[in-house]
Amino acid sequence: MSKLSENLAQKIKSHQAQVGVVGLGYVGLPLVVEFAEAGFTVTGIDLDKRKVDMINRGESYIQDIPTSVLKPLWEKGRIKATTDFSVVKDLDTISICVPTPLGKSKEPDMSFIVKSCESIAQHFAPGKLIILESTTYPGTTDELMLPMFAKSGLKVGEDFFMCFSPERVDPGNAKFQTKNTPKVVGGITPTCTELGALFYAQAIDTIVPVNSTRSAEMVKLLENTFRMINIGMVNEIARMCDRMNINVWEVIDAAATKPFGFMPFYPGPGLGGHCIPIDPFYLSWKSKQSGFEARFIELAGSINGDMPNFVVSKIQGALNDFSKSVKGSKIHVLGVAYKRDIDDVRESPALDVIHLLQGLGANVTYSDPWIPKIDHEPVVMSATDEAKGIQEADCVVIITDHKKFDYKALVQNAKLIVDTRNALKGVTGSNIVRL
Ligand SMILES: NC(=O)c1ccc[n+]([C@@H]2O[C@H](COP(=O)([O-])OP(=O)(O)OC[C@H]3O[C@@H](n4cnc5c(N)ncnc54)[C@H](O)[C@@H]3O)[C@@H](O)[C@H]2O)c1
Repeated sequence: MSKLSENLAQKIKSHQAQVGVVGLGYVGLPLVVEFAEAGFTVTGIDLDKRKVDMINRGESYIQDIPTSVLKPLWEKGRIKATTDFSVVKDLDTISICVPTPLGKSKEPDMSFIVKSCESIAQHFAPGKLIILESTTYPGTTDELMLPMFAKSGLKVGEDFFMCFSPERVDPGNAKFQTKNTPKVVGGITPTCTELGALFYAQAIDTIVPVNSTRSAEMVKLLENTFRMINIGMVNEIARMCDRMNINVWEVIDAAATKPFGFMPFYPGPGLGGHCIPIDPFYLSWKSKQSGFEARFIELAGSINGDMPNFVVSKIQGALNDFSKSVKGSKIHVLGVAYKRDIDDVRESPALDVIHLLQGLGANVTYSDPWIPKIDHEPVVMSATDEAKGIQEADCVVIITDHKKFDYKALVQNAKLIVDTRNALKGVTGSNIVRL
């Protein structure tokens, strides 16, 4: 171990290390709070002044982090935020949690990682630990990031330290949050891994060290690709069952009674969020570059991507049974968030379903207790009152099964319901159509 690594280890163990988090979104802010709760002073850096100002008033903007948790830590001086990267010179650790979206042709968009690393590099100095947390393709940390810091002449593993540690947070999950979700960490060198593991062990219950940054990057993609492919498989089974007039939900529940060798996945209106629909394409892109075609990913992507069309065809069929068509009908979408009980509409299949229905000439309204407005071109609209929307609609389609919806009133008052989530499990009626 070099003198610098020993110094850093000492600062981490004594909680004297100055912790930095770049990117204060769904991933970054919970991390800030975990380290502040563990007794560290944490500085968050974000380009979004609104978020920075809110943190500097002790206010949260993330559903999973109540202000009642953030404020006392801020009052103790353990949390501060800034848009100014010059604070990097005083930081000992820097965790990067910036977005990694897809470009227009489904290629990885590395611009946020590159830009934030350029800003960090301007104020870089020996002795620091940098950890990338953003989901990305294997090779990002050693091929893309490392050269940006090594060009200063500093030697990784001796003068500075670099790791990848995927964030596995599941927004809205009441049981598993940042602290009790095991943290995988892989460094460029064994000393980097050791320091990365030591750092996260101060705030997170279980640490899983792996031998390289590439393994750590691949772990996250394996996890999300596993989900995406299994959801694709069960969506295909749902469409088969539809043709054969079999209730797919009953089939899955019965299969799930097998105590070994089966894990239930459920069909739905399509994939949403920033992990499952996006991350597998990071893997297929990288794998294509190595001359290997990721066929499962492409297939599941195409099946999942077609689910909003399938939902619209179910609505069309259901309306036909009442001698109506989508054109000119009032259709109320219940729930637009990408999953239950969260306030995030990014990549939500509800956006595709609404857009398709509007294209067919339907008069579409929606209600969602978490999403008062949608502003995702071409879908721009405000929520309507749940009871009124249901009452007035020719058809109500459940896209997101939020717990807050009044399902009893829905069943009593709706003329026709298309349920894409089995939210009305156990309820029967000639006006209820399931996926
Ligand atoms: N949200 C999730 O559920 C989740 C779960 C696991 C992993 N991830 C991954 O974590 C990463 C971050 O996701 P997120 O949901 O927190 O994103 P987010 O959009 O909620 O937050 C990202 C933040 O980074 C800031 N930012 C962008 N460029 C910056 C720069 N150059 N310098 C400083 N700040 C900058 C943005 O202003 C924003 O506040 C992504 O790679 C995502 O795939 C997300």
